Amino acid sequence: MKPVLLSLTVSAFLLSAASVAQAQTGLKIYADNCAACHGPTLQGMPELASPQLAGPAFKKTWAKRTVGDLYTQTMTTMPSGDPGSLGERAYLEVVKYIMGKNNQPIPANAQRDQLAKIAIKP
Ligand code: HEC
Repeated sequence: MKPVLLSLTVSAFLLSAASVAQAQTGLKIYADNCAACHGPTLQGMPELASPQLAGPAFKKTWAKRTVGDLYTQTMTTMPSGDPGSLGERAYLEVVKYIMGKNNQPIPANAQRDQLAKIAIKP
């Protein structure tokens, strides 16, 4: 294998390893702080009045807004009862996790200030 090809392959591997690690962190933050109300598969729980966070209803609510809006709303209102308690990094990871579950993955290295440029698609 030529060196250039090899290094491309290695960076592709590192990139995918990074997004797996990120997804696991987001998953853990979600499982520990959100799943009790929004459900383990982000399906929502009508009996708790907590909306779906992945699927057609979520996309219908959020289409035309940005991932930055989702971040801000989540950070300022969730977890319900203790908003803002998780810290910026955790909100960033959990929002990336939610978008991944909506099949609109956010680049693993995206930072908070880039989210406002990412539109949520229907
Ligand atoms: C104690 C229950 C509870 C917990 C825990 C909780 N939520 Fe919620 N969440 C709700 C309820 C109820 C609503 C609807 C009312 C509202 O928006 O405040 C909601 C609304 C939302 C919305 C707006 C959804 C929409 O389409 O309008 C988002 C996004 C959200 N939650 C994300 C999260 C995340 C991420 C976490 C974990 C960090 C979390 N929630 C934890 C109960 C909860």
